[in-house]
Amino acid sequence: MFPEQFQQKLFNWFDSHGRKDLPWQLDINPYRVWVSEIMLQQTQVVSVIAYFNRFVARFPTVQSLASAELDEVLQLWSGLGYYARARNLHKTAQIVAGNAGVFPHTVAEFSALPGIGRSTAGAILSIACGQSQPILDGNVKRVLARFHAVHGWPGDNKVAAQLWQISQCYTPMQRTGDYTQAMMDLGATLCTRSKPLCEVCPVADGCQARQLGLVKQLPGAKPR
Ligand code: ADE
Repeated sequence: MFPEQFQQKLFNWFDSHGRKDLPWQLDINPYRVWVSEIMLQQTQVVSVIAYFNRFVARFPTVQSLASAELDEVLQLWSGLGYYARARNLHKTAQIVAGNAGVFPHTVAEFSALPGIGRSTAGAILSIACGQSQPILDGNVKRVLARFHAVHGWPGDNKVAAQLWQISQCYTPMQRTGDYTQAMMDLGATLCTRSKPLCEVCPVADGCQARQLGLVKQLPGAKPR
């Protein structure tokens, strides 16, 4: 399937089924998108909503977060788990505040900050800044490994490199933030690890894994 077709089908699905009123989708700026992406790294959307609202109500700007005590940040994080995320959030806020509160404009600079990998950098820059940047989080790895029938464990560097290349190839120049969100939503809601809902998937007709009967086998498991 051509990237343009893939994008069109995904956008049509997102326009009619995607969530567009989550707290971090309103009042979009790099600070709010960054906070939300860190919270969403290991926590489901439904659980993040209340934490996000409390967090940005107490710390509305990167400067306010930077000047807070770590203890208070950890308290607001309490219950979300993976507390390294909160420590890194605080550290990164101090670095950004030291740069006049300006977040980086490139994936290379963004992913040099504590707690931000290449995919999170791409997500923030596409959603908050409209930059055409690919992402490859766990959900998107699964979508693309199936769509292109990429064998092997995505944790393997060679497999990941292949998936990054595919992700890059499908990333549009327009509506990149919506595209990023749609890919994440597709992986989280339809192209799930077990019992994927292929019957209602907008790109099922181009899915290699489906054509080859490999949906259950892909992506490949970690070798043991
Ligand atoms: N996981 C990471 N980022 C996400 C986002 N923006 N929406 C849903 N799930 C996510």
